[in-house]
Parts: sequence; structure tokens; C-alpha cells
Amino acid sequence: MDFVTASAPGKCILFGEHAVVYGCPAVAVAIEQRISVKLQPSQTNTWLLNGNILNLEKNPHISGLIEKLWPVKEGAPPLSIQIEGNIPPASGLGSSAALSVATAAALRRARGRWIIQANNTEHTSWAEGFSSKISQTDAYSSEDGFFFTENHDNLIHLIDNTAVDLDECAILAHSVEAAAQNGRASPMDSSTCAHGGVVIISDVIEESVDYIYSRELKVNDDNRQWHIHHINPNSTDDVYLVIGNTGVHAPTGKQVSKVAMMLEKEPSRMKEIEAIGKIARRGIQALLDSDYEMVGKTMIENQIMLTQIGVSSPELDVLIKAATPTSIGVKLTGAGGGGCMVALTRNPKLTSEAIELAGGRTLISKLGAQGITIDYAPKNPLWSSHKFS
Ligand code: MEV
Repeated sequence: MDFVTASAPGKCILFGEHAVVYGCPAVAVAIEQRISVKLQPSQTNTWLLNGNILNLEKNPHISGLIEKLWPVKEGAPPLSIQIEGNIPPASGLGSSAALSVATAAALRRARGRWIIQANNTEHTSWAEGFSSKISQTDAYSSEDGFFFTENHDNLIHLIDNTAVDLDECAILAHSVEAAAQNGRASPMDSSTCAHGGVVIISDVIEESVDYIYSRELKVNDDNRQWHIHHINPNSTDDVYLVIGNTGVHAPTGKQVSKVAMMLEKEPSRMKEIEAIGKIARRGIQALLDSDYEMVGKTMIENQIMLTQIGVSSPELDVLIKAATPTSIGVKLTGAGGGGCMVALTRNPKLTSEAIELAGGRTLISKLGAQGITIDYAPKNPLWSSHKFS
């Protein structure tokens, strides 16, 4: 039977977690560990997840994406979803963002995309979809948000191979992450898992790096804006990331709320968040200069501030201490409170052994991995609305 498989990498934050939620700059890298999502029409006429009936409430990321990309109301059939991967869940490595962007890519590839071919020209544009460049769509709305451009019936064609768009996958994943985190989610995880490589999120459009797009999100009455960029750091051949997992599950939403409550109670502590932003800016410069000693020092400073805002944990501190002698820089990565730490090192074997001896489980990755890939898809979509055929 026909199926579609898409995969996406996890991510590791080098600088700026938590502060990025408040618009400060941050850097994340895609890691070699991935999540893969396989979709095929369900044989039982019910939605299935890894062979069991899909519980929509317990899987808000998946159900949010189905709502936006798989028009059940228009007759799109239930699917069987198979998820596999080696990104540990709830550990700060972007497992939910990787799942979300891979699911978005698989759903989009499974239904193809309608495009408008302007009369007698090569020029095409989308007839439906979500993008930071299409102002008529609202990826963040709970409505399904499809839009079909009417009155173009004879000009509309279905595309399959090029239907997947990284910006669309990232914006939809950000919208479902934000919904799961009470509206407080930066686009860092979703953009890094979608685009791969090394991603810089900033409060300004940076000049010396590749700008991809901007994102805006209303949090309470505050409008947050982030500008997302790609960089290709040089001379990364002999530097590795060793990620140490404490095994303590620490849901991101809870950690983000903890920081939000601290700031509500003591607004003056915004200075600490701003300090993390300044540190991240130095880290970005060090990466652009390929000065990994400075990248490491900056990571250590970032960890001091993360401890100060209360998101480190005794388990993280033990692994960080164990990795320090063999590393260039060490800090927690992700939301903290448990989850993972990351060491930048030229001795991945020694660093990994030290972390394991201290009780952590390790993963080793280079700095940056490929973003979304479509690993298998049939020629035709699994389902398509025949509206314009
Ligand atoms: C979680 O990976 C990173 C946080 O900064 C939350 C976010 O950016 O949405 C803690």
C-alpha cells in the first residue's frame, strides 16, 4: 500500500534558551538524531498512531496539524501514523518540534499542493497553504485555515514532488508548539528542525548571515517578533557536541511558565533575561569568527545565567561538572529542570565517557544536520481534493 515517510532532526540550543521566548537572540543547531513519520491510509477507518487508536487530546501537536493540513471535512480519509526515532522525548532536544515538522511535511506530501499557473507563463503561485509570505493565512488560528483561490479553476494544477515547503512546515509546527505552551513558544525549535544546519534567531535582521523569514506571535497583549537566519560556521571539522541526558523528564511548557511566573513576581529580573540575550549575541559573533574557544567560554557564561534564573537542576549540574575538564564549553540545553546538557568538545570520546560515568546517557553529533527530508513518497498524493480537477 502507498505511504509517505518524512523525517526531521532534533535540535540543541547553544545559546539563549528561555530569553528567546522574550525576543532575545539565540542559536540552535540541528543534530544527527531524527524522528521519522510514516503515513498511510488506515485500514480500520479510524486514525491510528503506532497501531493504536489515535487519542487526539493526548497528541495535541499531531491533532493540530491534522486540523490544518488534512481536511477531514472535505473527505480526507483517516490515516495510520507510524513514528520512529532516536530523539529522547521531553529532554530539551526538540523531539516535539521534530515530530511536528516531520508530520507537517508528511501530511503536505500526502495531499500534494494546488498551484495556480498564470496563463501562458511559467509563473506559479500556491492556491492553498500556509506561509510567512502569505498574509491571507493564519497558521496560528485554531481554524483550519485553508484558503482556496476561487475563480481560477482552469489554471489550477496539483503538484506532488515540490509540494513540501520548509517555511510552511516550520510555521505550522510553531503554531502547534505555541498552542501546547500556553502561547509562549519561540520559533527556534520548529525553524531549526525544519531547516537544519545552524539557526540564529534574533531581535534584528542580522547583516552578515542569511535571513530566512520573520515570525510574529501575540503573547497575552505583547507582540513578539523574531527574525530567523541560517549560518554556515567554518572549521567545524574537529569540534563535536556531546549531549548528556539526565533521564529526568522536564516538559518545556512547565519550565517556560516557571520563568514567566518569576518575571511576573519580580519584573526587575528581566535584566537577567537581557543578560542572556547579550551573551547569545557574543556567542553568535564567536561562531561567525569560528572562534570555538570563545564559543565555549560564552556557553559557560550562559550556564551561569541559566542557573541564576532557576532552570538548571542538581542532575544537570553533576553532568556539567563531569564534562567540564575535557570540554571547550558546557551548559544545559533546552528548557532545563532536567533533560539534557551539551558539551562542545574536541575529545568527544573522553567527554562522553566522563558524562556516562557520572550517570548520564550520551549522544554525539556534529554541529548541524540536514533539516526535513521526504524519505519515501509515491508519485501521486495519497488523497487530494478534486475541487479544481
Ligand atoms: C525549548 O527548547 C527552548 C525554550 O527557549 C522555549 C522556546 O524557545 O519556546 C525554553
